[in-house]
Amino acid sequence: MSDKSWGGRFDQDLDAHAAAFSASVDVDKRLAEQDIRGSIAHARMLGARGVISQEDVQRIVAGLEQIAREVASGDFSWDPAREDVHMNIESTLTERIGDAGARLHTGRSRNDQVATDMRMFSRDACHATAARIDALLCVLIHRAQGTVAVLMPGYTHLQRAQPVRLAHHLLAWCEMLERDRSRLIDAARRMNLSPLGSGALAATTFPLDREMTARELGFAGVSANSLDAVADRDFLIETVAALANCAIHMSRIAEELVLWSSQEFGFVQMSDAFTTGSSMMPQKKNPDMAELVRGKTGRVVGDLVALMVMLKGLPLAYNRDMQEDKPPVFDAFDTVDASLTILSGSLATARFNATRMRKALGEGFVDATEVADYLAAKGVAFRQAHHVAGRLVRSASDQNKTLAELSIEELRAEHAAFQPDVYQALDPETAIERRNLPGGPARSRVESEISATRARLTARGIDVDASAARFSARTEP
Ligand code: ARG
Repeated sequence: MSDKSWGGRFDQDLDAHAAAFSASVDVDKRLAEQDIRGSIAHARMLGARGVISQEDVQRIVAGLEQIAREVASGDFSWDPAREDVHMNIESTLTERIGDAGARLHTGRSRNDQVATDMRMFSRDACHATAARIDALLCVLIHRAQGTVAVLMPGYTHLQRAQPVRLAHHLLAWCEMLERDRSRLIDAARRMNLSPLGSGALAATTFPLDREMTARELGFAGVSANSLDAVADRDFLIETVAALANCAIHMSRIAEELVLWSSQEFGFVQMSDAFTTGSSMMPQKKNPDMAELVRGKTGRVVGDLVALMVMLKGLPLAYNRDMQEDKPPVFDAFDTVDASLTILSGSLATARFNATRMRKALGEGFVDATEVADYLAAKGVAFRQAHHVAGRLVRSASDQNKTLAELSIEELRAEHAAFQPDVYQALDPETAIERRNLPGGPARSRVESEISATRARLTARGIDVDASAARFSARTEP
């Protein structure tokens, strides 16, 4: 009989192709740490409840701790014939300690075991990714602080629209990432209930202390329904949805870095450490890292789709389809984590070109709204003011002039309400300072947003400046 035999019910081993098709250990061995912690907690609880002896508990715990050390050092030999992480660890344990090992699985199924492992893994990974988001936020806050005085065009439809501060744009990225972070923390909180004790689907006849294993494993409580606890993977869907959202946000940031580093924009120069050259064209400095952050987003969205489609038709409770939850979850975390690190380094070392940004402000009639608002403030109906400003843009454009270069007579020819103070209103700095509402680009608003974001990070125990500084230097792997 091989390890794969399921005992009395079977007299033939699994077909070799079927064995290879269903083995998952190459992927799920990543859960070894969670699996071992779960088994140790389960064994101690069985001992406390008198289901197994204290000698058995000691042998099991020592055996599992030894396996944990071998897994950590890379010395543990994984056997694909033993199907998955759970069977590999349990079979090795039983080989080494005999009967005691064979008692570990009392009152437990791989169904509640794998659900427990995945909840622990994802919960901890959500917090780790949130910490990486925090690190990127520190970089952005740092850059925002240094760029409050830098003015640039804000865009709609990728057309120059109205002047803003560069810091205001960077703070917009902060808000996006802050929400991604809170979605991950929220998902981690909701999944933090222990399935152990749910058994295969209908709990168990043994008097398990579910609260005890839950406490030991850092869960906030126990799941309420054994069928649901082994059958649902909604917690993975919401986690990967949060990761996909974060990836999409990073992709949009990356897209802006790609645009801004083009010669057409020239708003930023990415550091050599995050760009590549061309083997043919010596002048090239390509923003490959930003492009890859953008490109890898497709994988994370794909991971989410894979999970949702995997789950949609499954009857309660456990189905083997659910084994397919692991590759997308691991891939989504790995991809987002790597992208966060790359963006942190790219943004910490990028050089913004304030001169080019300022020049772009002079070229796109981004002050046209100021003309309309100016007239409206003098009592002209806004729709009419908008029309007058449009005519002035056309006439300035025809003469290859900016609005500020039109004479007061030319302005008056379109509307009598123009006074010489209009030129003051056209100044981008004035235009921005007049947008002095909560959430607006005026200096004091931007500064208070910086302080608020900083305060949130500090409240999480983060040293913003030290964290940002880590990315300003070349990072070692
Ligand atoms: N490797 C399996 C998974 O990840 C473990 C649970 C197997 N349960 C079963 N009844 N075959 O889903």
